[in-house]
Amino acid sequence: MCGIIAGISNPIAPILLEGLKRVEYRGYDSVGIATVSDGKILMKKDVGRIEALEAKYAVSTMPGSVGIAHTRWATHGGVTTANAHPHLSCDESIAVVHNGIIENYLELRSTLAKRGHVFRSETDTEVIAHLIEQASKRERDPLQATLKALKRVKGQYAVVVMFAHHPDLLIGARNDAPLVVGLGKREFFLASDVLAFISRTDRAVFLENMDVACISPRGLKVYNMQGKEVKRKVTQLAWELADVSKQDFAHYTLKEIHEQPETVQRAMLQDPRKLEAFASAIRNAGTVLLTASGSSFHAALLLKGRLNREAKVRCDAVLAGEFDHQAHFVDKDTVMIAFSQSGETADVLEAVKRGREAGARILAVVNAVGSTLARESDSVLLLNCGPEVGVAATKSFTAQVMVGNMIADAVLGRRTVGDPKKLAGQVEETLESEATIKDVALRFRDRPDFYFIARGPHYPVAQEGALKLKELSYIHAEGIPASELKHGTLALIEKGTPVVVIARSGDGFDAIISNATELKARGAEIIGVSDVEHPVFSYRVPIPSCNESVSPVLEVIPLQLLAYHMAVSRSNDPDYPRNLAKSVTVR
Ligand code: AGP
Ligand code: GLU
Repeated sequence: MCGIIAGISNPIAPILLEGLKRVEYRGYDSVGIATVSDGKILMKKDVGRIEALEAKYAVSTMPGSVGIAHTRWATHGGVTTANAHPHLSCDESIAVVHNGIIENYLELRSTLAKRGHVFRSETDTEVIAHLIEQASKRERDPLQATLKALKRVKGQYAVVVMFAHHPDLLIGARNDAPLVVGLGKREFFLASDVLAFISRTDRAVFLENMDVACISPRGLKVYNMQGKEVKRKVTQLAWELADVSKQDFAHYTLKEIHEQPETVQRAMLQDPRKLEAFASAIRNAGTVLLTASGSSFHAALLLKGRLNREAKVRCDAVLAGEFDHQAHFVDKDTVMIAFSQSGETADVLEAVKRGREAGARILAVVNAVGSTLARESDSVLLLNCGPEVGVAATKSFTAQVMVGNMIADAVLGRRTVGDPKKLAGQVEETLESEATIKDVALRFRDRPDFYFIARGPHYPVAQEGALKLKELSYIHAEGIPASELKHGTLALIEKGTPVVVIARSGDGFDAIISNATELKARGAEIIGVSDVEHPVFSYRVPIPSCNESVSPVLEVIPLQLLAYHMAVSRSNDPDYPRNLAKSVTVR
């Protein structure tokens, strides 16, 4: 979580400001920027968003050719100006920005306090600035001092350090949190995400764990924690990544929902050899274990369903954060498939690490090229849906569903997904129901609870609909299998309770309509997402008839739009839901 952008270019401040906007989705409770000018560190930081910082301090005009900047997602210490990054050493000659958690910060803080260091914030991060300051007392070389300091730090970090007395140097280091170097024309960057500098350069070096990178006007040098220089390869990034504008849409989330006719097709563009490699690994595995968090987990559940039902593969899906408690059966005959949009979710990376330690083979379905998960897996299928900026997963979810379908089809040796163009047309048609969904949002925007029900293969879609609504509208929502209603949840239904019923015609239709009728008898308002009309629906959101395997894609789109319009009608910012961040890089 949190976005870091740091760099060397003259002047650096406007570049940092633009970069910050591009990584703001990673965390956005406070923001800060520091540059070096005339041997001094200049710093401005505040709670709130980047535009507000710019309006207050005109930070884009700050002088200096070396600078660091940060958008925070607080883990340690409240959302206050003092806790915003950067953080300074006592003498204000060292400034740091940090992503992650320093686990032993209390111990380090008390040791440093005994040596006279005075802390200005409640964060874990601040100890890094003081540790380097302390190390610099004996070690004048900034790299050596930083290495010495980092050796004392336990936890996860991507950190960038700037020095008033070494005004042309930035040092970045990472351990279990992403940090990427951008190599431009006489300018260099360190960032938590390539999006931060993609408009300046398409050449990147993805740092490995425990790498320490020094950038200066002379270029990049990478060292290991022992201070020995190491070589890292340069990756050429795809320029398409540069398009992260909202175009004519009011929000990124809406733009990304509307990109889905295109992105579902791109998700289907998979190399048949790679798909076959996945399929053969699955066929030959003793056990297949799918793992992911949040929306990506719902996509994994859909694949699990198809592998179980149709291919009779022994397959389980475990939430990445629950891996330690639920995945004791993983061994060398296990094939693990991790789903992640960002490829940086800490829970997922940890699950994969544990799986690998137990001997499992690691396959991944990822969107972010060059992400840690993509680099650390034995084999990868990419979602190809372009950068997703909205915190809510939308186009990445439908892309995951389609890649999951391609995997299941490869295992089965038959194609159920149909023609990509046809699917794109059906997605377009589904998006046409937006006006109806807006009406539903306005009608129900003040209700305290929402329920989403579905049966069998459609249940993960109900879970996804509830997650979307919670995260964007802040309304309590639950996604439940319709069969479970009578076992408890029915007690919560009262006059006017909205229930979204996913009711595709075919198998299970009559059963779910019976459930909807039971709900209606108890006062619920039924919002049917269906390819057919039925009198039980108070509202119907039409979806086209389609193949069973692609149906979740069409079913979820109205639920994404519902969450979006509920958010807007309640004056929430759908791109930046409270308390959340796009990439959950802490556990
Ligand atoms: C979904 O809308 C979420 N914001 C969240 O649940 C997300 O899917 C989860 O954090 C996993 O992220 P990943 O796909 O990048 O691993
Ligand atoms: N742990 C640090 C803090 O709370 C960094 C959090 C982040 O990654 O944004 O300030």
